[in-house]
Amino acid sequence: MNLKLKIWRQKSVKVAGRFETYTLSGVSDHASFLEMLDQLNRQLISEGQEPIEFDSDCREGICGTCGLVIDGVAHGPSDTTTCQLHMRTYKDGDTITIEPWRAGAFPVIKDLVVDRTALDDIIAAGGYISVNTGGAPDANALPIPKAVADKAMDAATCIGCGACVAACPNASASLFTGAKISQMAVLPQGEPERAERARAMIAKMDEYGFGNCSNHGECEAVCPKSIPIDVIAMMKREWVRSIFK
Ligand code: SF4
Ligand code: FES
Repeated sequence: MNLKLKIWRQKSVKVAGRFETYTLSGVSDHASFLEMLDQLNRQLISEGQEPIEFDSDCREGICGTCGLVIDGVAHGPSDTTTCQLHMRTYKDGDTITIEPWRAGAFPVIKDLVVDRTALDDIIAAGGYISVNTGGAPDANALPIPKAVADKAMDAATCIGCGACVAACPNASASLFTGAKISQMAVLPQGEPERAERARAMIAKMDEYGFGNCSNHGECEAVCPKSIPIDVIAMMKREWVRSIFK
């Protein structure tokens, strides 16, 4: 395939960015989207130009490191992560527009790389279970009904990619935070710190300036792990509950 690529270039958060247009020939439909960008970078380096910065790690859809807005959609036209998008989705002659996640709480580091420290800090505020004495008990020592375990697991599949924030018109991190609160709120292990966890994580989310949820549902639509929007309702219930605790 021969492609035209319109890609956001930005030297740092302090410098204004702009779209640059590139042409790339001989792209295999067996390549992944990130391999296509690797190919473009090899071409740029061979021409003495600066390669395009973008994030990736596992390239297997499990780590949440990759994330691009492709033709206006977070993670592009597939229901998975950017690294799992393949070039067979496109055809010869296509023009593809590629941008970073856009949100005030995700400042651009360079080109397509944004700083997602805010999500790490929301986790650090309370997204854990403290074990202050002795070792952690065996996982199967505490019987959990299957329906509860399934609910916790559905929320725990969030990989922290941030697509929900990028897709939301309010740049809300409610789907992410709701998933991280819900996965522990339904389990007995999460009970001792339940109220404080919800309060602290929601306060940290607000501190970073993420917007409120106004039920657009864009987050759920782009989430590569199909986290249901119900976790946001649960987060709100946990917050109200925490007030009375
Ligand atoms: S909720 Fe979905 S879109 Fe948001 S960070 Fe988690 S996996 Fe990514
Ligand atoms: S690089 Fe790990 S999910 Fe895409």
